[in-house]
Amino acid sequence: GVDTLSRIPMSVLRQHNKRDDAWSSFNGKVYNITPYLPYHPGGEKELMRLAGRDGSKLFALTHGWVNIDYMLDECLVGFLVSDS
Ligand code: HEM
Repeated sequence: GVDTLSRIPMSVLRQHNKRDDAWSSFNGKVYNITPYLPYHPGGEKELMRLAGRDGSKLFALTHGWVNIDYMLDECLVGFLVSDS
């Protein structure tokens, strides 16, 4: 539930950039994309370009029609916040 989600600074997001520990943020939400990697129709390699990064722009450019909130709901980790 929402009560278990965290506020995730950009510096923390950046650390999750490995295949077995890959996080990416889209429109302010941070997702663990590792479980989805094998299922991505565009392949793991393309998706891994977003690992540890804010993927909002690249995602909007490549497939803005895909409902990421719905697809990755179970992979939601928290909300991106700025480092203070
Ligand atoms: C296709 C999801 C990120 C490259 C797709 C499709 C989905 C999807 C559902 C099928 C769409 C369709 O057929 O209409 C996602 C999700 C992403 C993500 C949830 C982020 C978490 C990316 C990124 C790239 C990428 C960052 C490349 C920079 C592609 C390509 C295809 C594709 C090339 C077409 C594959 C094909 O039809 O042969 N993706 N994608 N995706 N995606 Fe992604």
